[in-house]
Amino acid sequence: MGELIIVKLGGSVITKKDSETPEVNKETLDRLAGELGEWYSPEKRLVIIHGAGSYGHVIVRKTGIHEGVKNFEQRLAFAETQRLQNELDVIVCKSMIKEGIPAFPVQASATAVMNKGKLEKMDYEVVKGLVNAGIVPVLYGVPAYDTTRVCSILSGDVIAPYLAVRLGAKMMIHGTNVNGVYTKDPRKHEDAEHIPEVSPENWEKVREALGGSADTDVTGGMRGKVEEAYELARKGVMSRIVDITVPGMLLKALNGERVGTLIR
Ligand SMILES: Nc1ncnc2c1ncn2[C@@H]1O[C@H](COP(=O)(O)OP(=O)(O)OP(=O)(O)O)[C@@H](O)[C@H]1O
Ligand SMILES: [Mg+2]
Repeated sequence: MGELIIVKLGGSVITKKDSETPEVNKETLDRLAGELGEWYSPEKRLVIIHGAGSYGHVIVRKTGIHEGVKNFEQRLAFAETQRLQNELDVIVCKSMIKEGIPAFPVQASATAVMNKGKLEKMDYEVVKGLVNAGIVPVLYGVPAYDTTRVCSILSGDVIAPYLAVRLGAKMMIHGTNVNGVYTKDPRKHEDAEHIPEVSPENWEKVREALGGSADTDVTGGMRGKVEEAYELARKGVMSRIVDITVPGMLLKALNGERVGTLIR
């Protein structure tokens, strides 16, 4: 069996993230499944994580459940937010299976324990066993049980590095809607400059450059993503953030080409 690769498919790509209602980007999702399917073979070890895009961030921002659940209305929203993620995941897995990837849904919030928004623990025995048995677990950002406030959001950007360390991944690929890290949010500033590599040498500067998201994002947008990935790099697993709205880019990253931003 080959080295383990963890791929995050950004909700900003697989859904219409600027939409006020849940809407999937079906064509793009199918194209990405095609690129994964082209790279994939039964001896490859792969875990897929996907984001929520308009299936998650909007309802969460509206109901405030990322800051905890206090009343009955929020309990309902907690349940509905989870249901929506499952709905999106069914669409994602269907698209993957069509391309010959044995995509198997794993709901992280079934075992995740959060505390004040931080992931304390999550069972990964099944994920590990499945990967070693030639299955491709598919996890996704979810609202999860929090010991102090009932609910907080467990981002795909947190699940990915959590598993990468524990499963001994070789590489994490973050597919999103920008070509990695820039000196400013490139969707707001035309003069934003691309940063090809994030390392201890430029970390302090990069940190200042990181913003949230030009869309609704309750889990920190690019800042959250890069901080988690940098922490992961300190533990020895490198990441690449790439623009997978560009056809062929995910395949390039999977094949080890130097695209986007490397975090080491
Ligand atoms: N310095 C920066 N460099 C690059 N992108 C940045 C920067 N600062 C902010 N961003 C924003 O980060 C966004 C990507 O993060 P976002 O969380 O929206 O996407 P995602 O993680 O793919 O989606 P999801 O959270 O639904 O999975 C970009 O669209 C951009 O607006
Ligand atoms: Mg995000």
